[in-house]
Amino acid sequence: MNPNLERLEPYPFARLSKLLGETQAAELPHISLAMGEPRHPAPQFLIDCLSEKALLTEGLATYPPTRGLPSLRNAIASFINRRFKPAKVDPDRHLLPVNGTREALFAVAQALSNYKDRPITMMPNPFYQIYEGAALLAGTQPLYLPCTPETAFKPDLTQITSETWSKVGLIYICNPGNPHGALMTLEDQQALIALALEHQFIIVADECYSEIYQDEDNPPVGLLQAAAALGNLDFKQCLAFNSLSKRSNLPGLRSGYVAGDPELIARFLEYRTYHGSAMPVHSQMVSALAWQDEAHVQHNRAQYRAKIKAFAETLAPVWPIKTPDASFYLWPETPIDDEIFAQKLFSLQNVSVLPGRYLSRTFGGENPGINRIRIALVAEPNACLEAAQRIKSSFEDLS
Ligand SMILES: Cc1ncc(COP(=O)(O)O)c(C=O)c1O
Repeated sequence: MNPNLERLEPYPFARLSKLLGETQAAELPHISLAMGEPRHPAPQFLIDCLSEKALLTEGLATYPPTRGLPSLRNAIASFINRRFKPAKVDPDRHLLPVNGTREALFAVAQALSNYKDRPITMMPNPFYQIYEGAALLAGTQPLYLPCTPETAFKPDLTQITSETWSKVGLIYICNPGNPHGALMTLEDQQALIALALEHQFIIVADECYSEIYQDEDNPPVGLLQAAAALGNLDFKQCLAFNSLSKRSNLPGLRSGYVAGDPELIARFLEYRTYHGSAMPVHSQMVSALAWQDEAHVQHNRAQYRAKIKAFAETLAPVWPIKTPDASFYLWPETPIDDEIFAQKLFSLQNVSVLPGRYLSRTFGGENPGINRIRIALVAEPNACLEAAQRIKSSFEDLS
């Protein structure tokens, strides 16, 4: 047995099931604001494409290429080149399709970590737990970077010593951030890239919420954009991950990309060839269409914006909540212990949310998730509004 399996922590939703399993829910229809699973409908033109008999006949009869079909690589490159200017990626050298960011964010640590010489993997705290599991199974030690109101929910890298940097193999960043929706600026990312070039560690940027943002005129800055603007045109030490799950409401398609440093991409491709993680051909074809269309993405973004606004406005009289710059999550402070808040909300109103501590670790004596909850506004607008009204009506009991 791989001894590193013993190092894995229980997954947040397993902890939530246990917590709520011990609680009697109110007799109301359940509203889940716990999981970040998009529930806006998948775009019809993509469903139509995937339902074409000729496409499925070809796709099911073909071993898919791990590198991806040229049509998919071209579509992804066009997306990156128009969205993350001045980045100019070459579809043949700079990118690979992946089966959603989750598997790729995990696999990249297995492929590219050097646990002997570079035993530290850095990650934000709170985080997407896959980063931690990936680091542990790769035999490295997580170093958690607190993301708190004091740091504007971004990792503060100014206190890290050269000695520590020399032991870092990989750093995960999540931009826009889950669970708080904070954005790293161009300057934040360029400072990190300069450190990565100096100390030769790899930046793994999880950008899966990059298309869900508030200000239509100011989309989040991506890692490859920051690298190119710095003159790092071949994206040395940089890898950006993105997917169609949130952008296009296709979490079931399992489709995304990794793009960046061609040497790292080549090694990752080698790993993936052995691992057997090629995307089915029919999924590749549909994905190519999805990356080429922006109209459905704009519509999706507008829906999230409206839901966040309505939710925050409803609760404002009792519980003012800071709205995020990006993503579909709220990360408010709770008036009482976060686990008790989640449990009480479930028992009083049958609404589930995720206790903040399930997304964070105590490190350096502090746990930035304690007394916060994550609210995922993924449900239909009416359900989100109803949830806000229920929380409002019970807020005194939740305090
Ligand atoms: C921060 C973050 N990264 C990655 C993922 C994985 O998304 P997918 O594998 O569907 O691309 C999620 C899913 O919720 C997430 O919240």
